[in-house]
Amino acid sequence: MKHPVHPMLVHFPIATWFLATIADIVSLFTNEQIGWIGGVLLVVGTITALLAMTTGLIELGKIDQHSPAIKIANQHMILIMISWSFYAVSLFLRLNGTQLEQPGLLAISFSIAGFIFLCSAGWMEGKLVYEYGVGIYHNKA
Ligand code: HEM
Repeated sequence: MKHPVHPMLVHFPIATWFLATIADIVSLFTNEQIGWIGGVLLVVGTITALLAMTTGLIELGKIDQHSPAIKIANQHMILIMISWSFYAVSLFLRLNGTQLEQPGLLAISFSIAGFIFLCSAGWMEGKLVYEYGVGIYHNKA
């Protein structure tokens, strides 16, 4: 496929992780089941991120190893993997067997840390696409 699949898939983990962190923070101030919603969003985000990572690795393979963009792409990959790990730990901490429970302070802290790394990875993505033009096809139209 000529069109990169990676940008199509990244919206799912970004949206669900972001909303999960918001739900986690809100759960600090309410006794409602919002913490459970955060857990469901984390499950979706953590799984869809694996699909995004697979397609990201394909895009990474297309970048010239000698181009300056490769360093930024590697930084993007490392930051997103750290983000994934923080979110996965946050999910693990709120699991009781297969049941999702209201997140504790530690689970919420990991969720916030995951979000911080997600934003840092986003900064690198901006550089990759808008500064280095990675993934952009220049046609003659
Ligand atoms: C092994 C992990 C990953 C690698 C190696 C990787 C690599 C890349 C590369 C090479 C690009 C530039 C080419 C393109 O735009 O398609 C890119 C863009 C991007 N990546 Fe990743 N990525 C990974 C995981 C992720 C994940 C999990 C997310 C989301 C949570 C993500 C979000 C993005 C976004 C938003 C862009 C910019 C898309 C655009 O505007 O065109 N990446 N990534």
